[in-house]
Amino acid sequence: MESVRNGLILGIESSCDETSAAIVRNGREVLANVVASQLVHADYGGVVPELASREHLRAIVPVVREAMHLANVSYEQLDAVAVTEGPGLAGALLVGITFAKAVSLAAERPLIAVNHLEGHIHAVLMEAEASFAAADPLLALVVSGGHTHLYLAHPTDDGTWRYRNVGKTLDDAAGEAYDKVAKLLGLPYPGGPWMDALAAHGDPKAVPFTFAQIKQKASGRTPVKLARELASAQEDMQRFDLSFSGIKTAVRRYVELHEMRPRIAEREAVLRAAGVFTAKPGDAEARNEALRHLDQETLDLIASFQASVTGYLTRTVLAASEHFEARGLVVSGGVAANRELRRALTDAARQRVLPLSFPSIALSTDNAAMIAAAAWPKLLAGQFAEDTLEPVPQLRLG
Ligand code: KG4
Ligand code: ZN
Repeated sequence: MESVRNGLILGIESSCDETSAAIVRNGREVLANVVASQLVHADYGGVVPELASREHLRAIVPVVREAMHLANVSYEQLDAVAVTEGPGLAGALLVGITFAKAVSLAAERPLIAVNHLEGHIHAVLMEAEASFAAADPLLALVVSGGHTHLYLAHPTDDGTWRYRNVGKTLDDAAGEAYDKVAKLLGLPYPGGPWMDALAAHGDPKAVPFTFAQIKQKASGRTPVKLARELASAQEDMQRFDLSFSGIKTAVRRYVELHEMRPRIAEREAVLRAAGVFTAKPGDAEARNEALRHLDQETLDLIASFQASVTGYLTRTVLAASEHFEARGLVVSGGVAANRELRRALTDAARQRVLPLSFPSIALSTDNAAMIAAAAWPKLLAGQFAEDTLEPVPQLRLG
């Protein structure tokens, strides 16, 4: 085991549109977690990679400096520097990795590469009861703007984790569907938090959206790949893949059929002029302004969309947990902040006496504390990155 002096890891995250630095002690105690969210993308309805890299470059030094200051920690006291290797935007990841390498070199501390998806899972584990760390297998749903993945996580002898992907979206991520539908309805980016807040004012039963049944076993695989997978192990091949592009199209069709477009365009212009598009998603004043201009039909559509998506996720997660006899369930990623998803999963898990854990809202969306937490078992196991570490935009987990 590597000798650990203070148990302090500096984590750095820059895979998408949040520049974040955190200091975490012993993989659990967050001394500082600074997150700078890039508001520049709001006007474009999605993340613009070129702008994201530039914003990371601008933010990385002040963000790390602030985290070190808040934690009252010096570079000499650190045990390691952890950074997101992927998946994510290449140029965005590059900023975090380059900076982490520089700190690692200057402070003479090892560098640890972390998979962003593993980070999301550790956002839950770091806060959850210790018993979660021993649950085998643990079922993890990572649901965000970039991912909708289901993993079976197994603790291993050296304290690190082994993952197996047992389901994923075949098209859009759930958060992406939220964002695209919000854009279609003339709401700001990121749409998820807006839709979540507005859904409370609509009737979730107004529009009965349905999800097509996906052929689970062979979905998305070529015959060659399928044969290889079948040959590779006597593993259970049951898959729990998902698809979100259908509901997005259904909402678009509804909007067209009900001739909502002119109203939407008009409202969007009003909300932009009122500054709603540049407000933070949680801003109550901006939300009230939006509510003043939203008609009941749109609110019902939002509530119905939310009910269908969260119901679909809940059913899929429960089916997977039953199939794999999961001993615990963790849910993380931006969409884990969704109130309806939390409510539906909490109810279902309680009925089945299945331990369930979500991260706090602050650790649901992208942050560096989860990167430092995921790096902790790697530090103890001596799993360090080469100093030639590069971004891996398509990095997979399991
Ligand atoms: O994890 P995250 O910060 O970044 C990615 O790795 O994607 O997740 C951001 C995503 C966005 O799509 C955003 O709309 C969605 O999470 N999101 C939500 C909520 N809060 C954030 N979706 C639904 N309900 C929410 N409350
Ligand atoms: Zn994420």
